[in-house]
Amino acid sequence: MAPSISPLDIILSSPGETDSFGYAIGRLLHGGELLALIGELGVGKTALVRGIVAGLDIPAASVTSPTFMIVHEYQGRLPVVHIDLYRLQRHEEAEAIGLSDYLTDDAVVAIEWADRFLELLPEDRLEVRLAHRTRTTRGVRVDASGSRSRSLLAQIKNIMPPTSRSVRASIRSGKRTSSR
Ligand SMILES: Nc1ncnc2c1ncn2[C@@H]1O[C@H](COP(=O)(O)OP(=O)(O)OP(=O)(O)O)[C@@H](O)[C@H]1O
Ligand SMILES: [Mg+2]
Repeated sequence: MAPSISPLDIILSSPGETDSFGYAIGRLLHGGELLALIGELGVGKTALVRGIVAGLDIPAASVTSPTFMIVHEYQGRLPVVHIDLYRLQRHEEAEAIGLSDYLTDDAVVAIEWADRFLELLPEDRLEVRLAHRTRTTRGVRVDASGSRSRSLLAQIKNIMPPTSRSVRASIRSGKRTSSR
């Protein structure tokens, strides 16, 4: 079992940084990962998925917010399943879309509003919590809860630029950054 790992806290200062962060994650994926995306309306969950799919060699433009479609599937370096649980209320509805059937060893599964049905999801998942800070700045906490996601989080930490360390410290101490 991979050792436990502390969460990663970073700030994404622009949509472009969110895109790059997603792209970097996409490059690290092998298939079978579950990315649980959590955060309020308009916080950047779909924006992050766009970066992730670009990192899997899928044109980012093909990613739309799955508002009317609950599930979107893309094929790139790996199959990607993009799910948005926003409009689902009851467990039976989430079960009816066959949530568990999408969780295969091949596919990367990214779920927006995953917090609505966390108890239906496997334990081993990367939880990405986004929060509004300013109009263009988002705080992100990435946490892992199983061996596969812990190893992914360790790799994400490895590729983060050193400058983000001071930013992480400023988040922990509760200070806001001056970037707008
Ligand atoms: N740093 C940032 N990262 C990501 N998006 C940002 C950032 N700054 C501003 N934005 C804007 O925030 C919006 C994010 O929209 P997006 O559709 O990705 O959010 P969402 O979390 O998927 O919302 P929903 O809950 O409606 O699905 C976009 O309009 C984007 O341009
Ligand atoms: Mg969205």
